[in-house]
Amino acid sequence: MQEIQEKINQYRLKFEEEAVRVRDRQGLEALRVQFLGRKRGYITKLIENLKHLSPEERPLMGKEINELKTYILAKLEEIKHNVVKTQKKVSHLDLTLPGRQIPLGAPHPLVKLQEEIESIFYQMGFSVEDGPEIETDYYNFEALNFPPHHPARDDWDTIYVEGREDLLLRTHTSPVQIRAMEKRKPPIRIIIPGRVYRKETPDPTHLPMFFQVEGLVVDVGITFAHLKGTLESFLRRLFSERIKIRFRPSFFPFTEPSAEVDISCLVCQGKDSRCRVCRGSGWIEILGAGMVDPQVLKNVNIDPEKFSGFAFGMGIDRTAMFVYQINDMRLFYENDLRLLRQFNRQ
Ligand code: DAH
Repeated sequence: MQEIQEKINQYRLKFEEEAVRVRDRQGLEALRVQFLGRKRGYITKLIENLKHLSPEERPLMGKEINELKTYILAKLEEIKHNVVKTQKKVSHLDLTLPGRQIPLGAPHPLVKLQEEIESIFYQMGFSVEDGPEIETDYYNFEALNFPPHHPARDDWDTIYVEGREDLLLRTHTSPVQIRAMEKRKPPIRIIIPGRVYRKETPDPTHLPMFFQVEGLVVDVGITFAHLKGTLESFLRRLFSERIKIRFRPSFFPFTEPSAEVDISCLVCQGKDSRCRVCRGSGWIEILGAGMVDPQVLKNVNIDPEKFSGFAFGMGIDRTAMFVYQINDMRLFYENDLRLLRQFNRQ
């Protein structure tokens, strides 16, 4: 009995010694087999040895062995728990894995173009302004010299706010001209990029919402020559030094005289009679412009005898189609990364 008691004590110590060295599942299993293995485990051997004891001694030692076994089982369970936990931690820290890529955002092609336009005008001494997208009839039309019920209003397919005849979604960025001139007296030299809205069914060249950029210069002695010079240098910077530019007479209620400005076709340079971009004409219409109508200046209490000005308006989406060679405007709004990625290969 003495001998078994000693062995029990000895195995307990041995187990404790080995237990602290276990680092992984294999070590744990080896420890389990060493002590509880069915054939050669220390505990199994101890139990076998019980038969050499007297019937009185047997239950005493049996109890001791059982206690040791329960202790070992509990301890193994505890080690297993720790091993699983640390292994999980370690697997999160696999330094051989490639780094996680953080996807970088990039400006939308329309935003990029808008920023390019802003930067060109900024360098010419213009500042950037904006105004509300929900406008009153007064700013969108009346102050711009469209009297109520004037047929020119029909050229802008207006979306009105339900139940509010006087409120609409601005059909162009021109109303911000009025707001700017009300706020501040000349000299004024601003551009106004922003969203505008028209009642349109989407097709490759029309959308119910799109972007424009407006320009306005008011000062003493501003002439059509300033308008021409400013727009020509802007268009050459934006497209290419080599483009040709032409001014065609046109009509807008808020400018007099008015012009539409065309540039030579960027795709065929006027050489392909079947060109799909310019439809063989050699020219693409790029913006509307003119000298600010004296009546518009009067509407904002600027004396047209003292001051004069010019204005222009350009569609950003339309221009982007030429710049990026995209034949369907709707693509800009589908958010298809395969398209958008092509414009951001920094
Ligand atoms: N607002 C006009 C449009 O939406 C564009 C325009 C034409 C703006 C002539 C101007 C301008 O400032 O002078 O079609």
